[in-house]
Amino acid sequence: MAPVTLGTPLSPSATRVMLLGSGELGKEVLIALQRLGVETIAVDRYDHAPGQQVAHHARTIAMSDPDQLRALILAEKPQLVVPEIEAIATPVLEELEAQGVVRVIPTARAARLTMDREGIRRLAAETLGLPTSPYVFADSLEELQAAIDGRIGYPCIVKPVMSSSGKGQSKIDGPADVRKAWEVAMAGGRVSHGRVIVEGFIDFDYEITQLTVRALDADGQVQTHFCDPIGHIQVSGDYVESWQPHPMHPAALERSREIARAVTDNLGGQGLFGVELFVKGEQVWFSEVSPRPHDTGMVTMITQRQNEFELHARAVLGLPVDTTLKTPGASAVIYGGVEAEGIVFDGVDEALRVPNTDLRLFGKPESFAKRRMGVALAFDADVERARTRAKEAAAKVRPRRA
Ligand SMILES: Nc1ncnc2c1ncn2[C@@H]1O[C@H](COP(=O)(O)OP(=O)(O)OP(=O)(O)O)[C@@H](O)[C@H]1O
Ligand SMILES: [Mg+2]
Repeated sequence: MAPVTLGTPLSPSATRVMLLGSGELGKEVLIALQRLGVETIAVDRYDHAPGQQVAHHARTIAMSDPDQLRALILAEKPQLVVPEIEAIATPVLEELEAQGVVRVIPTARAARLTMDREGIRRLAAETLGLPTSPYVFADSLEELQAAIDGRIGYPCIVKPVMSSSGKGQSKIDGPADVRKAWEVAMAGGRVSHGRVIVEGFIDFDYEITQLTVRALDADGQVQTHFCDPIGHIQVSGDYVESWQPHPMHPAALERSREIARAVTDNLGGQGLFGVELFVKGEQVWFSEVSPRPHDTGMVTMITQRQNEFELHARAVLGLPVDTTLKTPGASAVIYGGVEAEGIVFDGVDEALRVPNTDLRLFGKPESFAKRRMGVALAFDADVERARTRAKEAAAKVRPRRA
């Protein structure tokens, strides 16, 4: 493989890259691409999505609709298509990649396998033989109950096969919770095809995201690079705080990287991956992987020489990467708190007066109580101090109705 030739945006020599999904993560990838003079096309399902505000072109379509997606890619003719969300008509990506029309990041197959929990879980556990929680897929309340009574037991976790950020997910502690968990999953899944995964509950000491980059070396060969491990806290399956580096037993770190390498080698292509792992002592379980920047990795905007978005942009273009950590740091999520359009943020000045901090406000047109609207970042001599500062800054930002 060779690096992509970079041209001049909005001219015939332009290098055109299309982002499928333009939320806060896509926005940062777009900014990194913009800085290299790439012509960017930001696609989302609604107008004025964060990434659309920083791209050359904004397009709004239903990315899960095969006809709309195919028509848009054929009309825009990007060299690279970079999926930033899971809910995409991935068979269209496979079809266009096979025809040589576009290159999909990291590969169209990776986008398909990670688009729902079943593809990636079966690959990791059954094909690659990696340790995971025990699991069963179920298509009805009766199948769910049978799976728990048979293989899984209590406590366990039920998740819609297609969902992210903890939507539709619940923990079951005993028989009384099963029906409720099924109903929550049916209401929270992205597509209502009624399939869930039920997983045995792993009583881990901590969980990490192992950011893993597949990038070209000077000979055009793919090499794997690892970032320092990111620790995080999830509330109802949604990330609220992350920090880097997370201290780990050397054996657990080595095992984590073996698992990350096995999964990313199989998914292939070039780009950054977020490998989610559970750790107890020296034991490590694979949970899931995003073939793209990870929300907990926003902390790298303050901790690394090249943050996860810059690493992704460079890797997909075939350019060299540097995963060096600059400083320990932390991130803390700012939720909307209110249900309103066009909200304003009080306390931004106070937040930024907390030493060693920075802020990102995503610019989402509509706020919900539990919608992520921004993130506070902090660095310090150690992660504990950085976490305190990040949380302090985040708490000072007060979103409200305009
Ligand atoms: N089997 C399990 N045992 C214990 N905890 C679990 C298990 N599965 C999930 N969790 C907890 O729930 C969190 C969210 O789960 P998971 O990553 O599968 O969901 P998600 O909706 O894909 O989340 P996201 O999109 O934010 O990564 C995990 O990070 C972990 O804290
Ligand atoms: Mg997850």
